[in-house]
Amino acid sequence: MAARKPLIAGNWKMFGRAADLGEIAALNRAVGRASGTIDVLICPPAVYIPAAVAQAQGTSVLIGAEDCSPIAVDAARTGEVSAAMLADVGAKYVINGHSERRQNHKESDDLVRQKAEAAIASGLIPIVCVGETQAERAAGKVAEVVSSQVRASSPTQGGAFVVAYEPVWAIGGNSTPTLAEIGEVHALIRETLTGQFGASASEVRILYGGSVGPKNAGEIFTVPGVDGALVGRASLKASDFSAIILGHPAAA
Ligand code: PGA
Repeated sequence: MAARKPLIAGNWKMFGRAADLGEIAALNRAVGRASGTIDVLICPPAVYIPAAVAQAQGTSVLIGAEDCSPIAVDAARTGEVSAAMLADVGAKYVINGHSERRQNHKESDDLVRQKAEAAIASGLIPIVCVGETQAERAAGKVAEVVSSQVRASSPTQGGAFVVAYEPVWAIGGNSTPTLAEIGEVHALIRETLTGQFGASASEVRILYGGSVGPKNAGEIFTVPGVDGALVGRASLKASDFSAIILGHPAAA
């Protein structure tokens, strides 16, 4: 099996303005050669994607989206953006089923799977997010919740995809699971994917997300089975995000 190339993805959420897109060029300068051994991705709000793609032109920084419609073809879907449109303007990846969408927009596993399948059909690589709430962790249900989300949200029709393990309680806060806990859940996700997809599951990258920053990224990247990170707040500034990327063993 070829080694999985690490992926470090920034999720800008609903932050930033056109003026902040200069961070992409700054990021490219700061990470230098590391982007040859690590896939570096920025997912800005949809309206800024074309300008972000222009900023990233000629650099190795990849641009992605934070969400897409479950419908791959043109359709009467007011307010939605299709994966085909995202691909048309130069996006390469799309985040699907982030917990903020699962919570605020009541996105089900089934909808997340349809979005991921629309992404693949349009030539994008979906990053499917899963993760337990604080209450589910307290009730000892991490394995049950995460494996059932993986089984029901993963795209089934073939094509590359990524899974991001993001414990809901770790997002936007200051706490993360212990390194041992992160390792356990990543192993569980790998096992679940293997049960579902067989040998090809070894190609799926599994990221950790939730309060990753320059201080803790290095140790998280040493956890077996962690193929990179999905980063929120600390991806907004090139200084923080590049420190995370340069802290990966593959950047050396
Ligand atoms: P955070 O967000 O890094 O700000 O905790 C992570 C995410 O929501 O992907």
